[in-house]
Amino acid sequence: MVFYFSGTGNSRFVAKGIARAIGQEAADITTYTKNAERPEFTESGIYVFVCPSYMSAPARAMTDFIEWAEFPSGIKAYFIVTCAASMGITPKVASELCEKKGFEFMGAAQIEMPQNYIALFTTKKVEENIDIIEKAENEIERLSPLIADGEKIECKKIGSVEYSVTRWVRDVYYKNFMKTKKFRVTETCISCGKCVKVCPLSNISMKDGKPSWGTNCTHCMACINQCPKDAIEYGKGSVGKPRYKGPETNNSVKE
Ligand SMILES: Cc1cc2nc3c(=O)[nH]c(=O)nc-3n(C[C@H](O)[C@H](O)[C@H](O)COP(=O)(O)O)c2cc1C
Ligand code: SF4
Ligand code: SF4
Repeated sequence: MVFYFSGTGNSRFVAKGIARAIGQEAADITTYTKNAERPEFTESGIYVFVCPSYMSAPARAMTDFIEWAEFPSGIKAYFIVTCAASMGITPKVASELCEKKGFEFMGAAQIEMPQNYIALFTTKKVEENIDIIEKAENEIERLSPLIADGEKIECKKIGSVEYSVTRWVRDVYYKNFMKTKKFRVTETCISCGKCVKVCPLSNISMKDGKPSWGTNCTHCMACINQCPKDAIEYGKGSVGKPRYKGPETNNSVKE
C-alpha cells in the first residue's frame, strides 16, 4: 500500500508513480483523516509513506496519521519525502516512529520537487521546475524496484545535535507560525470555492461568497497556489510571486 499526503500535488505525483511501478494502489490519507473513524489496515507486507518535508522532517499530517491509524506489526515501512532541498532529519524521525509502531524501518529517501512554500520562498521558473520533475521521475524509477524487492534504502545517520536543534525549531515553527491570520483574499476572487475543495484539512469555508480560514492549518499552500485567479495572498510574503500549480500542470507527464 502507498499512502500519501500532499498539499500541491508533488507528493501525490511521486506516490502515484511509485504505486504504478510496484503494482500497488496509492491512497490519500485525507480520505481517512476527514472521516473521524480510526482506520485499521490488516494487510501485511510493504507500506510506503509519501509526504512533503515541512521544516526538515515529514509533514506532521503524515506522522500523526501513522500514529493514529492501526497497522499490523512487522510491516516493512518506507518513507519517501518530497522536498525543495532536503528531507533533513527524516531518517531518524521515521525510524523512531517505526520503532514505536512495531514496523520494520526499511529506510527513507528524499525526492527533490519544485518549491511550493510561496508564503516564504519563490518557486522556480516553469522550465526549471520541469527539469526538477524529470529528475524526480528518474528517482522514482531508481527507488521503485528496491521497494518492490523489499530491499533496504541506505540513509545517512542523523547526529544528536542536528536532531535536537531541528526538532526544537520545528516545534516552535509549527506552534507559532503555521497560522492563518495572514491569509487574505483580493478583489479578483470569483467565489468559485476551489480553495475550499483543495484544503486537505477542511479548514476553509465560504462566508458571503469569500473564503474564510479556520485555525486548523498546516501551511500546505494548496489554497494560495491553486486559486484560479491568484486571489489569495499571505501577508506581504506572496505578493507578486508566481503560484506553483503542481506537477501535472507544469509538464506533459500525466498521473
Ligand atoms: C510548510 C512548508 C514547509 C516546508 N519545509 C521544507 C523544508 O524544510 N525543506 C525542503 O527542502 N522543502 C520544504 N518545503 C517544500 C516542500 O517540501 C516541497 O515543495 C514539497 O514537494 C511539496 O509537496 P506537496 O506538493 O506534495 O505538498 C516546505 C513547504 C511547506 C509548504
Ligand atoms: S479559489 Fe480563489 S477565486 Fe475561488 S473562491 Fe477561493 S479565493 Fe476565490
Ligand atoms: S488553509 Fe490553505 S494552507 Fe492551510 S491547510 Fe488549508 S489549503 Fe493548506
